[in-house]
Amino acid sequence: MPLQNILVEIRSRICYIIINRESKLNALNFSTLAELGEAIKQAFLNTDVGGIIITGAGPKAFVAGADIAEFAPLDTDGGRKMAETAQHNVFDVIEHGNKPVIAAINGFALGGGLELAMACHIRLASANAKLGLPEVTLGLIPGYGGTQRLTRLVGKGRALEMILTADMITAEQALQFGLVNHVVKPDALLPKAEEIMNKILTRAPLAVASAIKAVNAAITDAEKGFDVEINEFAACFATDDTREGIAAFTEKRKPDFKGK
Ligand code: COA
Repeated sequence: MPLQNILVEIRSRICYIIINRESKLNALNFSTLAELGEAIKQAFLNTDVGGIIITGAGPKAFVAGADIAEFAPLDTDGGRKMAETAQHNVFDVIEHGNKPVIAAINGFALGGGLELAMACHIRLASANAKLGLPEVTLGLIPGYGGTQRLTRLVGKGRALEMILTADMITAEQALQFGLVNHVVKPDALLPKAEEIMNKILTRAPLAVASAIKAVNAAITDAEKGFDVEINEFAACFATDDTREGIAAFTEKRKPDFKGK
């Protein structure tokens, strides 16, 4: 698929995906979502890639939402198809990925932009970022998982206040809410994302994948989450990396993980 709305670069085992519609504050139109979904799937399959960092082009926006220009012709069926397609092909794929995905929020993360960031495993924000779900100002509600993921991340009361008022919150408030893990100066955003990703990339890749699956189960499958953890824990013992990690600790050396 030729890419027109995103940039994809792989450097030192990190796949950088940059939403690249700066003149529209990187709003997610349908073709951007299709490209994004495909790029994410390719990165998860690519053995040269250990993790993904997603950010927005330019200094102003991560993503300012779904592209409102595409909403006007939609009816009920169109709205359902829009939400289902994006959730299944992009947002859920990110959340359930076998490699870590970090959102580097470099400005406005609104509507679908915040929903994209919330589907990622780890969120960092630059100090100038503004986050919110303003859909009710358009007579809508979030449709890319926002009502569910925001509630899980910040709790029902804060989620309802954000969604019902449509107010944006600052990066510092997002940090206080636990919606982002770190707030840094704008020029420190990618270096901080790389620092975290590079640390994860020194860990055993199959264990990282198992950990994502087990932690996700706490949210998506709470009753069976402990069973998922038991199964993923057990599965680690079938990997060379677990033997290597245990041997390296015993031999007082750094592990050399192969992802096998
Ligand atoms: N969909 C489509 N276009 C968008 C967009 C979106 N979600 N967000 C911004 N844009 C476009 C604007 O229409 C404008 O395009 P134009 O120059 O062709 O007119 C361009 O991006 C710049 O945005 P602008 O509104 O001029 O910037 P601003 O600094 O004055 O305001 C925001 C920034 C983010 C506050 C404002 O753009 C905004 O409210 N965007 C919509 C946010 C939203 O409701 N998102 C949820 C959608 S479900």
